[in-house]
Amino acid sequence: MENYRLGPKRRDALKAIGLAGFAAAGVSTLGSPAPAQVVGASEQITREVAAGDGLSGKTAIVTGARANIGRAIAVELARMGSDVVVHYHRPETRDQAEQTAAMCQEYGVNTALAVGDLGQKDNVMRMFDMATDTFGRLDIFVHNAGALVKGPVAELSDEDYVRMQRVNVDATFYGFREASRRIEDGGRIIGIASSVTGGPPPQYGVYTGGKAFMNGMILAMAKELGPRSITVNSINPGPLDTPFFHNQETPESVAFISQLAPMNRLGTVAEMMPAVRMLLSPEGMWMNGETLYINNGYLQA
Ligand SMILES: NC(=O)c1ccc[n+]([C@@H]2O[C@H](COP(=O)([O-])OP(=O)(O)OC[C@H]3O[C@@H](n4cnc5c(N)ncnc54)[C@H](OP(=O)(O)O)[C@@H]3O)[C@@H](O)[C@H]2O)c1
Repeated sequence: MENYRLGPKRRDALKAIGLAGFAAAGVSTLGSPAPAQVVGASEQITREVAAGDGLSGKTAIVTGARANIGRAIAVELARMGSDVVVHYHRPETRDQAEQTAAMCQEYGVNTALAVGDLGQKDNVMRMFDMATDTFGRLDIFVHNAGALVKGPVAELSDEDYVRMQRVNVDATFYGFREASRRIEDGGRIIGIASSVTGGPPPQYGVYTGGKAFMNGMILAMAKELGPRSITVNSINPGPLDTPFFHNQETPESVAFISQLAPMNRLGTVAEMMPAVRMLLSPEGMWMNGETLYINNGYLQA
C-alpha cells in the first residue's frame, strides 16, 4: 500500500457541480441527523439526513477501481466531495489506478492508492489502515472488486473456484468486517453484486454463489449497523458492455443476452451511477438492507 499525491482541497469545485443548493436548504450533514419536524396537523415527517455540501470531509475506499465500474464510483464519490482511496489489484495496472486518482483530483479531493489481492486479509487491513492513517477517518466502503470465470460447475478447475472465492467471498468478509469496525456513524457500505443472484444462468453457478454471499451479509449487517445510522446495500447490475462481461462471452451469447433486456441491449457503467448516487447521498439514509437490481427488467424476461 502506498500514499499517492495529496492535492489541495478546492471546495469551490462542489459549487461548480451544483451541490451548493443543499447547504442553502439548511439541512444537516451526513451522520448528524436533524431532529424530527412535524409537518401539518397530522403528518409527521422525520428528516434524518441531508447534505450540507454532499460528501465533503468524508473518506471513501473503492475496491477494484482501476477502471470500469470501480473507476466510475470513485469519480462519483469525488464529484460529491469525498476523499478517495483507489484500490487496484495487480501492480502492473498501477497506471490505470493513477488515472482514476487523477480523475478524482479534478474535483479537488485528496486521493490515495492501495494495491493488492483482497483475498489476503493482510492486504485488506493495510488498505483500511491507509485510509484512516492518511485521512483520519473512514465513512464509505464500496466493495466493487469481483471475479468471474464462466463455466459449468463440472468443468471449473480448483483454480477457477479459488480465483472467484478470494475476491467474491473472502474479500467481502474481510472488507465488510473491517468496514463495520471502522466506519464512522452515518456512513455507507455498498457491495457491487450481480443480477445473476435474481435468476442464475447456467455456467454462472460459483459466481452467483459468491454474490449471494454478499447479499446475505448485507441483510444482516444492515440490521447490525442501522442503530449507528450506517446503511448497508448492494447494487446488482445486469450484463454491462464492459470487458468483464465480454471476456466470458461469445458474439452469439452477447446477442442472446442483450435481447433479454426489454430495450434490447447491454447496460453501461454510466447507467449504474444514479443508483450509486442515491445510496451515497444523505437523502439515501432510509434505503438500508436493499438489493438494487439495475438491469432494465432483464430478470423479468
Ligand atoms: N460488467 C458486468 O457486466 C457486471 C455485471 C454485474 C456485476 N458486475 C460486477 O461489477 C464489479 C466490477 O466489474 P467491472 O465490470 O467494472 O469489471 P472490472 O473492471 O474487471 O472490475 C473487477 C475488479 O476486481 C479486481 N479484482 C479481481 N480479483 C481481485 C482480488 N483477488 N483482489 C482484489 N481485486 C480483485 C480486478 O482487478 P484486475 O482486473 O487487476 O484483476 C478489477 O479491478 C464486479 O464485482 C463484477 O462482479 C459486473
